[in-house]
Amino acid sequence: MVLLPLSLLLCIRQGYFYRREVAGMIAWIKKHLFASAFLCCFLFLLAGCGRGTKDDTVQQQESESQPDEDDIVIGISQVGSESDWRMTNTKAYMDTFTEDKGYYLIFEDGQQKQENQVKALRKFILKDVDYIVLDPIVETGWDTVLQEAKDANIPVIIADRNVLVEDESLYTCRVGSDFLQEGRNAGEWLAKYLESRGRGNKDIQIVTLQGSLNSTAQIGRTTGFAQIMEQHSNWNMLEYQSGDFTQAKAYEVMEYFLETYDDIDVVISENDNMAFGAIEAIKEAGLKLGRNGDIIIISFDAMRDALRLVQKGEIVADFECNPITAPLVEEIVQKLERGEAVEKVQYVEETYFDYRMDMEALIEKREY
Ligand code: AHR
Repeated sequence: MVLLPLSLLLCIRQGYFYRREVAGMIAWIKKHLFASAFLCCFLFLLAGCGRGTKDDTVQQQESESQPDEDDIVIGISQVGSESDWRMTNTKAYMDTFTEDKGYYLIFEDGQQKQENQVKALRKFILKDVDYIVLDPIVETGWDTVLQEAKDANIPVIIADRNVLVEDESLYTCRVGSDFLQEGRNAGEWLAKYLESRGRGNKDIQIVTLQGSLNSTAQIGRTTGFAQIMEQHSNWNMLEYQSGDFTQAKAYEVMEYFLETYDDIDVVISENDNMAFGAIEAIKEAGLKLGRNGDIIIISFDAMRDALRLVQKGEIVADFECNPITAPLVEEIVQKLERGEAVEKVQYVEETYFDYRMDMEALIEKREY
């Protein structure tokens, strides 16, 4: 099957089709049959033996190689690839847990489904990995599988979002963002901003594009912002709706918000990709963004593309969610390897950016 097209290709290179000497062509194929077969086998062998490059998924790496005896085997169950933040977070794992440093990584993409993540954890347990890293999509529903990991003596590090379990000894520790604080920071920033614009006592109509419901990022940001909203009776939350942390869904939800309410002053977007979707819908509706426009947007994540929109004034403030959790996870693994104790909860450092800052310089310096 493979020999024929390959031989035909070689024929074209040899100029057979220009001369159209069919008989000659057949003779040529016969003559080079052995060489073609040898070439095919060689190519097959090459493809079968090659190890994945660093850019390949680690799943491929897993199926094509085996850990060395002294490798530290880490199973990572990632949420999915719903946002720029998530892609950066995943890349940081790949860059941190490398073969050169003695790690063997098994990476599983949950594709935004908890059941896939549970399956991944069970696979890691079966493979008897040394550590499990779980970036959980939602907070609840982990007790059983984490108990299974504990029974198998596999330490579990919860990264990024949190889990809510009856028995906290089911996981070793958590490293990630303080999402509640991020929400509060956004609320406090808005209060100061409105005050500075002489709108501190005016009625303010707000809508919120929430992240994936029941994820710590959504719960924390919604709750934190609501806590500050309670202090401002003139702020009115028109509606909360989930955009599932994606641009496409947020675009649809924002279209609906704009059709339903004609007096929106503020959009709280619980991540940058949803802000991109909202901006698209707002522009299409013919409305102006920014502090001298009709609507202001406050976002979370502060990824580079969003900071460019802060620079343009289309997002007024962006509250950072640091995606580079992998080095902290590695520190934890190394401590555990040395038999040292680790803190139960470790937050990553985070800041915020707004339209008043020199964004050009900040974007230049920024890693993500
Ligand atoms: O859990 C972190 C959140 O998840 C980020 O804000 C968001 O962009 C991601 O999808």
